[in-house]
Amino acid sequence: MYSNVRYLTSHGWAVLCCVATEMLTALAPYPSSTFRPTSIRCANDRQALFNRIAPVYDNLNDLLSLGQHRIWKRMAVSWTGAKMGDRVLDVCCGSGDLAFLLSNNVASHGKVIGLDFSKEQLTVASSRSFSKNCHKNIEWVQGDALDLPFDDGWFDAITMGYGLRNVVDKRKAMQEILRVLKPGSTVSILDFNKSNELLTSSFTEWMIDNVVVPVASVYGLSEDYKYLKSSIREFLTGKELEKLALEVGFSTARHYEIGGGLMGCLVAKH
Ligand SMILES: C[S@@+](CC[C@H](N)C(=O)[O-])C[C@H]1O[C@@H](n2cnc3c(N)ncnc32)[C@H](O)[C@@H]1O
Repeated sequence: MYSNVRYLTSHGWAVLCCVATEMLTALAPYPSSTFRPTSIRCANDRQALFNRIAPVYDNLNDLLSLGQHRIWKRMAVSWTGAKMGDRVLDVCCGSGDLAFLLSNNVASHGKVIGLDFSKEQLTVASSRSFSKNCHKNIEWVQGDALDLPFDDGWFDAITMGYGLRNVVDKRKAMQEILRVLKPGSTVSILDFNKSNELLTSSFTEWMIDNVVVPVASVYGLSEDYKYLKSSIREFLTGKELEKLALEVGFSTARHYEIGGGLMGCLVAKH
């Protein structure tokens, strides 16, 4: 019992932060009071969701994770091995956190592409470029992670942060990443860790139900709530992610649990 209490105490805040981060980003008041998603299970509805939350996404990430998401993103980037002069891709870049980190790694002789299908997220990313102390080596591209607009073997390294759980076809996304990655190069995929531990998964869901949902319902966003919860439930465990990577053709795949087991990073080599 004591160890359970200690576990909940040490992980509780972090769980709240991680889950609430993404959930509460979905709680921003709608730009138009007439717009409500009826479902966010298909690609168009997911695109609309991420367009809508774009203006508040960064602030809430920082606030609700107490800045920890920055550490996890640094880890993800370092695992790619991206270095000076490389041409690298951040898939599902959102407002660009990982792309900005990659930009420093590859420096002025390198090139970073940040790709996302949300125009609003890319607008935020692009405007952040001006205030960031980064090299002018980033290009923002609106595109689909399931149909990457790049030639085979084009990139020296690839990142994907909180994107794989959100695409409608995870296998296709992995196949596309493999296709555009140079042989011998690495992709690093950061996301929630779908835990096999009953305590962790139950507590995460408890937090959604009892902390996040009451706030969500005030805004009438029950569909968004359902999507978040189901996206975590339907995501793959670390072992399943490793299996998927190997099945689509990566030569090695290793999933690391980080952030006290709440987050995970799949590192796979072409
Ligand atoms: C949770 S956000 C993560 C943003 C950013 N990578 C980060 O870590 O903060 C997920 C992003 O995936 C994008 N996305 C989802 N499905 C996509 C697809 N099929 N093609 C391109 N972008 C997609 C969304 O627009 C959104 O910006």
